[in-house]
Amino acid sequence: MARYVVVTATDTGVGKTLVSTGLARALVAAGERVVAIKPFETGLVGDERGDGEALAAATGQVEPRRALVRLRDPLTPALAAEREGVVLDVAAVTARIRGLAAGFDTAIVEGAGGVLSPLTWTADIVSLARDLGAKHVVLVAADKLGTLSLTHTAVKCLVDAGLTPSAIVLSAPSSPDLSTGTNAAVLRRRLAGHGAVAENIIELPRVTSDEEAARVLAKLPPAGGQ
Ligand SMILES: Nc1ncnc2c1ncn2[C@@H]1O[C@H](COP(=O)(O)OP(=O)(O)OP(=O)(O)O)[C@@H](O)[C@H]1O
Ligand SMILES: [Mg+2]
Repeated sequence: MARYVVVTATDTGVGKTLVSTGLARALVAAGERVVAIKPFETGLVGDERGDGEALAAATGQVEPRRALVRLRDPLTPALAAEREGVVLDVAAVTARIRGLAAGFDTAIVEGAGGVLSPLTWTADIVSLARDLGAKHVVLVAADKLGTLSLTHTAVKCLVDAGLTPSAIVLSAPSSPDLSTGTNAAVLRRRLAGHGAVAENIIELPRVTSDEEAARVLAKLPPAGGQ
């Protein structure tokens, strides 16, 4: 059975796809059979290329080639679906993920938005990760001012759900501020009570390719065979 690595974040647009594709490439380079899945994606008009396509390109997988559920409005999936008159069935999507993951060593699952963004009115990436029995949750956050509270809040939420993150990736923003480069050390101190999380906080500098990200992310627990 595939092990599931769920990639979530403090917010939208902080680097989940970059971390997912980088991690996928690191695992493929290590000889693993990897599938990377975006269950829900919004803000896609027509055949517009999205995260699902980027994930598929990173692994070279035959399927899925795009997000399992694609919605038009750039809103949280629950609301985007409602506006399109689409009824989302999370149980069916979960079953589809399991089917797609069969035969792979690792299935990377990228969330939409942040930890508690509503996928439906009763589901979020936390409940999906639990339903999948995720082995690893990777929390992505921006390495900028404000991240200390956002990251700590997300960690508490995941810990409460029994999903202590295996790693936190602080991704460098396009416009750094004075806190950029200091947040990892502060979080190591703040999260000392959460055991291994504090030891697996890494900084992802600005990169220009997935391959470059892969070299940094190869140090993470999901890539270390744990
Ligand atoms: N460390 C970094 N180096 C270079 N670019 C980065 C880095 N982190 C994030 N980005 C860029 O920032 C943008 C947003 O990142 P990304 O798409 O990975 O976020 P996301 O969390 O997946 O967003 P969404 O919520 O839409 O899925 C992308 O263009 C991405 O390449
Ligand atoms: Mg993304």
